Amino acid sequence: MIIVKTKPEIRDAVAKWRSAGKRISAVPTMGALHQGHLSLIDTAKQHSDRVVATIFVNPLQFGPNEDFKTYPRDMDHDLALLEAQGCDLVFAPEHTDLFAPDFSTKISVAGVGEDHCAVTRPQFFDGVATIVAKLLINLAPDLAVFGEKDYQQLMVIRRMTRDLDIDVKIVGSPIIRETDGLAMSSRNQYLSSSERAIAPKLFETLNLAAEIFLQGESDWPVISEWASTRLTDAGFSKVDYLNMTDAATLTHIVKPDQPARLLAAAWIGRTRLIDNIPASA
Ligand code: PAF
Repeated sequence: MIIVKTKPEIRDAVAKWRSAGKRISAVPTMGALHQGHLSLIDTAKQHSDRVVATIFVNPLQFGPNEDFKTYPRDMDHDLALLEAQGCDLVFAPEHTDLFAPDFSTKISVAGVGEDHCAVTRPQFFDGVATIVAKLLINLAPDLAVFGEKDYQQLMVIRRMTRDLDIDVKIVGSPIIRETDGLAMSSRNQYLSSSERAIAPKLFETLNLAAEIFLQGESDWPVISEWASTRLTDAGFSKVDYLNMTDAATLTHIVKPDQPARLLAAAWIGRTRLIDNIPASA
């Protein structure tokens, strides 16, 4: 597995593969890799001849009081996992390799980039869209794979690449869950053992709420209220949102008459968990 840090190196490596006729996929990550990320590598391998993973903890997507400084970092472990999974190249730049000192551009995606996670993390999707655009411009892959765990992020990246004519296919890869249903996330390692025991209630509650929604007797706001109380009764400290949305536009819906996605974010102590499930008949 090749490891590079700079833009000229990554552009050169990818150009060589491209001139040899190889189909190239990208898997952007912030490291702290787990089985969910490794499944993205598997998806990428199915669709391409060469897989490039990126590891970069992107400061643009963290708010001033968020966990940028403490976000888990273990480069050696991540590289070993990627190599074992058959990744061909890792682009792991330092901040100065990617950004000019007076970098000042921001990409903002209206519509799908508003509401839901953007309500409490107003900088998040601008930060994601900006870094992903930079990575895709430098890698110029045929396709890029993102997890459905960050469903709103996936929609933002799809819209951003379409709107900016970045010629890349965006592939969504299914959520990987622990055996008790908790969606895998790098931030799960923040959970204490008592918090970890509560965490699967999020997925359980989403499933119950979606089941009630699909019966069609109650409107979503009523079900959402019930589900929110169920989570706080179980030990969640705060529910940021439980939104039933149109699966394509992420606008709010109240009745099960179109393909829907239930999106949620909730806190256990100091850890914010997100999850989502399809909710269609
Ligand atoms: O999903 C992530 O890990 C990050 O948001 C991403 C897409 C790598 C951008 O920093």
